[in-house]
Amino acid sequence: MRRKLVAGNWKMHGLPSDAGAWIQKFRELSREQHFGAEVLICPPYLHIPLMYEGLKALNIKTGAQNCATQDKGAYTGEVSAQMLADAGVSYIILGHSERRQYYYETSQTLEPKIQMVWNAGCVPVFCVGETLDEREAGRAEDVVATQLHVLINACRNAPAAEVCIAYEPVWAIGTGKTATAGQAGDMHAFIRKTLSTTLGEEKAQSIRILYGGSVKPDNAAELFACSDIDGALVGGASLKPEDFIPIIAAAGV
Ligand code: PGA
Repeated sequence: MRRKLVAGNWKMHGLPSDAGAWIQKFRELSREQHFGAEVLICPPYLHIPLMYEGLKALNIKTGAQNCATQDKGAYTGEVSAQMLADAGVSYIILGHSERRQYYYETSQTLEPKIQMVWNAGCVPVFCVGETLDEREAGRAEDVVATQLHVLINACRNAPAAEVCIAYEPVWAIGTGKTATAGQAGDMHAFIRKTLSTTLGEEKAQSIRILYGGSVKPDNAAELFACSDIDGALVGGASLKPEDFIPIIAAAGV
């Protein structure tokens, strides 16, 4: 039985000085209730130490949105997975569509990053997803399968390493257009089948596949009811505890 994971991706929102208010509000609204799902917040790098300290007491994990392809050295402006782990991070998002689109993230750059995340003792949250043009051209599954290659190859060489996948159709991110439970469920089933064919059924069943793209309090329960949807990667709605808490609650007790 895979435990659901509800992860917040704050992207480049909020100031470090706002972090305390978010934590305080979350504490007030959740009234320390027990959640069945594992909960994760991935804030910008700079907020991580502060968030880690505050979230620990709420039993929420801290993640990052990216990491460097190297572990240390003369790479101005980069932050390594080891540094993130040392600051309390346990999950690192890799290959988000915004990074693929704006920062030229490709399978070539993601390959060493997956390794760096594992070396640091963290879990990659590996993002895949098609654009609207690709979906309309009937190529959604091909695109996702191609994006998955690098992850599957890495898993072949490290069979015991943990990994999460986030299926995020690009046309649903930040647009208010969610994939229907049917569309999401079909793609999750396709991803699971691809994992099973390449890595074996046991490994495929152990990997959590999150859905991302305009997840909100009013559509979370329907998405979570699909057997292959193991949680969510939540952007906009994770910025406000009043929206994020009902999504966590929808993942079950
Ligand atoms: P959204 O973002 O929930 O705001 O659509 C999801 C994501 O990009 O991870």
